[in-house]
Order: sequence, then C-alpha cells, then structure tokens
Amino acid sequence: MRRPIVRTLARAAALGAAAAALPLASPAPVAADSVVVGGKLVRVADSPWVVALSSRDRFGGTRSGQFCGGVVVGRSTVLTAAHCMSKEVLGVPLRRVSDLKVIAGREDLATNAGNEISVSNVKTNPEYDASTNSGDFATLTLAEPLPESYVIRAAGAGDAAYKPGTSAAVYGWGDTTGRGNYAQSLHAADVTVLADKECQEAYPGSADGTYTPASMVCAGEIQGGRDACQGDSGGPLVARGKLIGLVSWGDGCGRAGSPGVYTRISEVVRVMKRYA
Ligand code: ARG
Repeated sequence: MRRPIVRTLARAAALGAAAAALPLASPAPVAADSVVVGGKLVRVADSPWVVALSSRDRFGGTRSGQFCGGVVVGRSTVLTAAHCMSKEVLGVPLRRVSDLKVIAGREDLATNAGNEISVSNVKTNPEYDASTNSGDFATLTLAEPLPESYVIRAAGAGDAAYKPGTSAAVYGWGDTTGRGNYAQSLHAADVTVLADKECQEAYPGSADGTYTPASMVCAGEIQGGRDACQGDSGGPLVARGKLIGLVSWGDGCGRAGSPGVYTRISEVVRVMKRYA
C-alpha cells in the first residue's frame, strides 16, 4: 500500500545508519513471492547523472545521509520524486531540513568521493497528487553547477525508448532485499518497459496508487524479481541512453504481477515548460 510504503521508507531510512554498518547481506535464496531488487553493483563514473539526496541531520551520517535518488538533467538541475520532499519521508516539513544536499560522483556512500552540493531551491510539481501518485516529481536547483558531462538527456513524448519491450535500467542505493537492507554502493537492475495495459491491470486504483498512462510508465519483469525498492525513489530509469522515468511507487518490491511504477519523463518535460 502506498502510505505504508512511504512510512516504511522514513522509518527504515532513519535506521539506515545502523543497517549499513553491518556487512552487506549475502545473496540468500529468495522465495517465489519474495521481494528483491536483483541488481548489480555499478560504477558512478559510467552513470554520472545518478545522484544521492542527502540529509545527515535527518538520516544519519553512515551512508552519507542518503534517503532518495535523483538525476542530473541540467548542469544546475536535478530531478527527484515529489514524495521525497514530503513530511512523510523527511519526518519534518522540508523547510525544517537545513542540510539538504545532492551528492554526485560517489558510488560508495561510506566514502567522501565526488561532490556534495547544496540545494538552493526546491520546486515540487504543483500538479502532484499524493492520492494517485501522479505527477511525482520535484526540481532541485544546485548552488554550484556540475560539469556538462554529468547531464543525461530526457526522452520526449513519442521517443522509442518508451516502447513496451524496451530494455531499461534503474539505479539507486535503496533496499536490495525488501527487508530494509540499504545498499552502501550504487546498484542498477535491468528491467523491461511494460505496456500501459499491463500496468493498468496491475494497478487499477487502490491505496497503492492508480496507474495513469499519461504521467506514469511502468517497468519490471512480469514474473517478478528485478525492481526498484524503498530508498530508490527519485532515481533514474534509463533506456536507449535517455532518461524515461523516476522511481515513484509499487506494491512491495519485485513481486510477480506488481511492476515498478515511474514518473513519465515526457510528462515532466511538458509540465516543467508550463511552469518555466
Ligand atoms: N516509494 C519508494 C521510495 O520512496 C519507491 C518504491 C518503488 N517501488 C517499487 N516496487 N519499484 O523509495
């Protein structure tokens, strides 16, 4: 269910410091209905547009304060999920978080590699609807620009990258098991873009959210297994070298018949133009 998912994230992320101090869980055999991201370790040098959102005040320092993902779409612009900026996730209203940062170029959160950049402005999509999860994005403005080489291109409406059956990859430092095992190092999982019809059948409208084709895209494996999970929210879904989605929601993680749902980037581009 949607609300419990978000609450779980806030609670688990607050405990993340303790969890991350433990050795990474060894790949235990997973039951058929079990939750799992099924990803692999990747180098941030190969995907410099993936960033971590951080607040050590809210989430502790062990994992650099990571609590959500983000993606660099302009030298000073990062996209993330609107729900990452909510009180449910942060535990306090956004204005009370004084150390919100974007961490670029650091795959291992236990190190101080790369750059930590202050966020000078946050704009949550005015059309975000927390009851259906539609329009789940926010724009962060960086206090210092990143190099142009960090920027990923967004796939516009009608781009072939959105076609069902396209291979895509989702990136993040979130839960790798569905049991609160937050990753210390960046992971990516290969998923397949699914047809809107399959996504609508999976999420016709419930407490989880409602699949809305105009503003969402869903991806995963119909038999389950590879997926994003808690802590990955706001991070990128990439296909054909372009950004197509932001991790948004799902029922559990990696469950058969419950694919991951992402904010559709072509819609983000459209809404951003309207409010620019
Ligand atoms: N809402 C979650 C977060 O804040 C992301 C959930 C994604 N779930 C999924 N099964 N793909 O991290």
